[in-house]
Amino acid sequence: MTTKNPDHIAIIMDGNGRWATNKNKSREYGHLAGTRALLYLFQKISSIQIKYLTVFAFSTENWKRPKKEVDMLLKIIPKIKLRVYNHCKKNKINLRIIGDMTTLPPFVNEAFDKWKTLQHKNPKTTLIVAFNYGGKSDIVHSVKTIVENKIPSNDITEAMISENLYTKNLPPVDVLIRTAGEKRISNFLIWQCAYAEFFFLEKCWPDFKIRDLQNVIESFKKRKRNFGSISS
Ligand code: IPE
Ligand code: IPE
Ligand code: MG
Repeated sequence: MTTKNPDHIAIIMDGNGRWATNKNKSREYGHLAGTRALLYLFQKISSIQIKYLTVFAFSTENWKRPKKEVDMLLKIIPKIKLRVYNHCKKNKINLRIIGDMTTLPPFVNEAFDKWKTLQHKNPKTTLIVAFNYGGKSDIVHSVKTIVENKIPSNDITEAMISENLYTKNLPPVDVLIRTAGEKRISNFLIWQCAYAEFFFLEKCWPDFKIRDLQNVIESFKKRKRNFGSISS
């Protein structure tokens, strides 16, 4: 039985739209509430012993949404930039971004650049924001780098692919949480979740509280992980 806290938790923050629709509000209203839930989580994260927390904020497939919604989602990052930065600076939290930054508007990259300047030597936690992130695109990006480095095919290892993913130097995901009831991975950290424990919560993201994270961690500690071996 696992008794230690997970090193790496990843969250698919889903259900902003449904949360708002249930209240007869616009999807944009739901994203604002979702942003508040994220800020609240970032503020409370120091109360939990967790080294890495990755949140899925915008997927490579989310560009398919109406332009108005996409524009609104892109503007959230600059809006919360300073609040997140100041909190993390004060609380010894590092911030990291994963995803394809090359196709994002400059105002989004500018906010991320500020976040990336946080380089505490021994951070209490590292928060990783997945933005314009797709698991398949991550693997393609890794393979391209390996090919560009002219690595002979016989020398290619799993470790090498891992080292060239956006998540370079991060441990594999121990716990994957998805809110709002859907039971799918939606092209999130597909390589990194190879042996993750999955937790599906019915509540929508704007209702997510630190208590929910604590409950998941307690359940995780009771799960038995085999990694292909036999139970001991
Ligand atoms: C998650 O909520 C936020 C993003 C994907 C950016 P959704 O917007 O997907 O909400 P639902 O799934 O439509 O309810
Ligand atoms: C996954 O949610 C992406 C994020 C939470 C950022 P989606 O709402 O985009 O996933 P699908 O389309 O329902 O699978
Ligand atoms: Mg959704």
